Amino acid sequence: MSQLLVRGGRALAGEVTIQGAKNSVLPILAATILARGQVVLRGCPALRDVDASVRILQSLGCEARWEADTLAVDTTALNSCGISDILMREMRSSAIFLGAILARCGRADISYPGGCELGPRPIDLHLSGLRDLGTEIREEGGFLHCTAPRLTGRELVLSLPSVGATENLMLAACGAEGVTVISNAAREPEIVDLQEFLNACGADVAGAGTSSVTIRGRRPMHGCEYRCMPDRIVTATYLCAAASAGGEIFLRGARECHLATVTAALRQAGCTIDSDGTGISCLCRQRLRAVRPVRTAPYPGFPTDAQAVLMAALLRSRGATVFEENIFENRYRHVDELIRMGAEIRVAGRVAVVTGVETLSGAAVRCTDLRGGAALCVAALAAEGETRIFETGHIDRGYQDIAGDLRALGAAASRTE
Ligand code: EPZ
Repeated sequence: MSQLLVRGGRALAGEVTIQGAKNSVLPILAATILARGQVVLRGCPALRDVDASVRILQSLGCEARWEADTLAVDTTALNSCGISDILMREMRSSAIFLGAILARCGRADISYPGGCELGPRPIDLHLSGLRDLGTEIREEGGFLHCTAPRLTGRELVLSLPSVGATENLMLAACGAEGVTVISNAAREPEIVDLQEFLNACGADVAGAGTSSVTIRGRRPMHGCEYRCMPDRIVTATYLCAAASAGGEIFLRGARECHLATVTAALRQAGCTIDSDGTGISCLCRQRLRAVRPVRTAPYPGFPTDAQAVLMAALLRSRGATVFEENIFENRYRHVDELIRMGAEIRVAGRVAVVTGVETLSGAAVRCTDLRGGAALCVAALAAEGETRIFETGHIDRGYQDIAGDLRALGAAASRTE
């Protein structure tokens, strides 16, 4: 099992290029099932979740191969519409393949995706939308046997703006007769990226980024070359790293428009943040201040995925910051590990109150989930001495090389096998 070693107490100074967005490339890899011909994804991040998606595509009979940071996928030879239980359990978001397989094959057999560390991850909104499009779904022994001989477009109303449900239904609607309108759709930038990819393959999708997405189905779809958007949560992570350790960094390729609520909080805390068309710079020279309550919400609200890393950046701030986690039930699992480093955090249900302390101490800590693990790295940069971070497999799901990136930004970070 690999470990991350981070020695704190050193201001950052450096530059790094932000990797492609995990939460954009995963639905795009599912969407390749709709296209006949080769898709070339440039700047594709090398992540455990991407590898899991590649294995799913290969299990369906598709070709997928890496050429440096480019992933070439050709689903022309797809010869199966079922995903094994083992593969489904490898990645929580594997449900995203359902809509695309139904649109391509007219049927699909998948097991219920596992829950995850963040709490139950139901897919009831995915399934009700697919039924509304004409899918028959039989649930048996943890498996979903889906048949959709003829998907028909219509208005779909989501009871909450689920990112995955919006994406899954966009993909299914590409195979439906007529027009589908998804109302109360999620508005995340990754959904706009998915729309751009689908249209580059010949689809007719409009409205992504708003609460109403319109898909005109059954357009002939072909391969394309595409570069995913930069990862806004990795960007938020490294901005919080600079806030935590102090110093000055530049994140090449980062787009501030994707994380305005995060940069607003960091400016409130005392960071100087500037952005232009090439990236985002962040300068933090003095001890941070506590910020106004941070309430996570669907985009364009404060992203739940940045809650842990902002919390880690504020552990030594002056004053107290209130966090309210409104998206997932169990997204404070990193708190106990941060407390081992000397943090002062009180949790009551969805609320966590962080009271700044003078010093943090390096410790042996364990990753509990993807963003909680990243938060441990952020906190370790501000701690005295060395922090040893275990179970780094969680972090590898979403960060291509967090130790290498932090070193490029001037941190004393390394990985041991
Ligand atoms: C996506 O997950 C992201 N994952 C998550 O990022 C992110 O935290 C989340 O959106 C919210 O922004 C990917 O894009 C691969 P949701 P997803 O459906 O699609 C409930 C990371 O760290 N819900 O918007 O699963 C659900 O339980 C990951 O990169 C239902 O009740 O999120 C949750 O409480 C973590 N029924 C809330 O909605 C459903 O059918 C938001 O879930 C679907 C969702």
